[in-house]
Amino acid sequence: MRRRPMRWLAVLVLSAGCATAADRPSLPRWTSRAVPEARGDVRVEPDGRRVAVRYPGWTTRDFARFRTYAYDDTRPEPPVQRATMPAGVTGDPERGRALFLDRVKGPCTGCHLVPGDDVWPAGSVGPDLSTLADRKLADAYLYQQLWDPRVTFPKTVMPPWGAQGVFTPEEIVHLVAYLQTLRGPVVAEKDPDRNPFTRRKPVGFGDNLDPTNNPAVLRAESAETTWGRRGPTGKSCADCHAGGTEKSMRGVATRYPKYVEAYRRVMSIEDFLTVHGPETTGAPLLIESAANVDLAMLIKMASDGMPVVIDTTSAPARAALARGEATFHRRVGERNHACVDCHTPDRGAGKFLGGRLLGDATAGLTRHLPTWRTSLNDAWDMRKRFQWCMTPLGANMLAADSIEYAELELYLTQFDNGKPLNVPGIRH
Ligand code: HEC
Ligand code: HEC
Ligand code: HEC
Repeated sequence: MRRRPMRWLAVLVLSAGCATAADRPSLPRWTSRAVPEARGDVRVEPDGRRVAVRYPGWTTRDFARFRTYAYDDTRPEPPVQRATMPAGVTGDPERGRALFLDRVKGPCTGCHLVPGDDVWPAGSVGPDLSTLADRKLADAYLYQQLWDPRVTFPKTVMPPWGAQGVFTPEEIVHLVAYLQTLRGPVVAEKDPDRNPFTRRKPVGFGDNLDPTNNPAVLRAESAETTWGRRGPTGKSCADCHAGGTEKSMRGVATRYPKYVEAYRRVMSIEDFLTVHGPETTGAPLLIESAANVDLAMLIKMASDGMPVVIDTTSAPARAALARGEATFHRRVGERNHACVDCHTPDRGAGKFLGGRLLGDATAGLTRHLPTWRTSLNDAWDMRKRFQWCMTPLGANMLAADSIEYAELELYLTQFDNGKPLNVPGIRH
């Protein structure tokens, strides 16, 4: 076999972390200080393939065709598309059903209940479709709904499957054929958990601050070593911040994210550490490194029980908050989703997306982050959560320490003002 010595020459062409806002001169050009897999880079292979650099196990597909959260990505939301059902294609209900359950493409079952033992776990973000055919809707109407439901429901949570190219016209014809087989009566479900409308809401994981219960507490405590370690400058955190983290950092985290004048941007504790660490001790503290997450947890724990008091009254903070709010509502990616779709009570929040109960951002989702994820055996900060929420939906992620994410975090955190910090949390 011929060796391919040029392979290592892959070039980094796109670094979302360096995104600047030409039309927003007040924002600095920010160079990411994230671990390589958290920078949102896309690499071009010698054969021309574009490969996204992401965390191990995440998709490496490049979604550059689709809109992102970058402030300099000025592409508008894809326009609403009308579509007519193609003539000459006969729908096959069996193929349609397989497509309905297809996890890579959809799955439609993430939001809709339909009958069948293999439908697990169905979600409840959309209506129960078990008896849809009884409504005797025209095929052409259903075709349009799947092609682009925004024609009928402008603010819908359902993606424009055809308009964005997730399903082909032929596949949508098969889906319609399947939907037209869904007639009542429905066999009553014996297991209430199979039906998302009767499923019990998940219970918590016990006391999140008990180290025998939450491994993240031990991880945070291990950051005491980082706190006391002298870096290349000969200084440690402890040298300048006397009295240990409990005393010196008490109340600090309640004020973050905040607009930090020195860097002319909004920063979370995690963002701040990426620059303050190297500037004082000389040692890097890249965002999404274990050292950064663990130290952030330790610092936040010094404020546990104290109310969040972020200040958004200064002019730059107000402007950042407005941009963060716009980002929360901005539809991005192949699925054309926005945070608002899944995390507000008038849409997905409080309902099941597949087996997962969606949290309500307006009730506050930020006070326990970083949080231990029992399903992954790892602690995740808020930025990794942002990246994870949208990447599988077909949007290229930004650098974890991007200004865009920081301002989104500011917007989410103001819903928690007045409520006590409780870090590290523990979640599925
Ligand atoms: C992210 C959630 C979500 C996903 C995924 C989803 N839908 Fe929907 N769907 C909805 C919601 C919500 C509605 C109700 C319309 C509205 O108010 O926005 C809906 C409505 C519908 C309707 C009824 C339209 C009407 O006029 O009553 C059909 C049919 C439908 N979806 C089929 C599908 C199919 C097929 C798929 C997979 C290709 C799918 N949905 C995937 C959320 C979703
Ligand atoms: C050389 C001294 C020095 C070292 C070393 C140092 N810091 Fe600081 N740190 C400061 C000073 C001074 C400030 C106050 C800056 C300001 O608020 O204007 C500060 C501020 C902070 C803040 C923000 C406090 C607030 O109220 O907003 C945090 C958090 C912090 N440091 C954490 C750390 C950590 C973690 C380390 C070790 C990685 C560290 N510092 C190392 C001097 C130091
Ligand atoms: C298609 C649905 C979907 C979209 C869109 C989405 N998320 Fe999520 N998000 C989830 C699911 C599922 C979870 C895990 C269940 C939960 O905690 O809500 C989650 C969890 C979270 C959490 C952690 C909640 C906790 O209690 O630990 C935060 C914070 C969050 N999302 C923020 C966002 C933000 C910000 C956006 C937009 C950038 C976004 N999400 C977009 C589905 C979504």
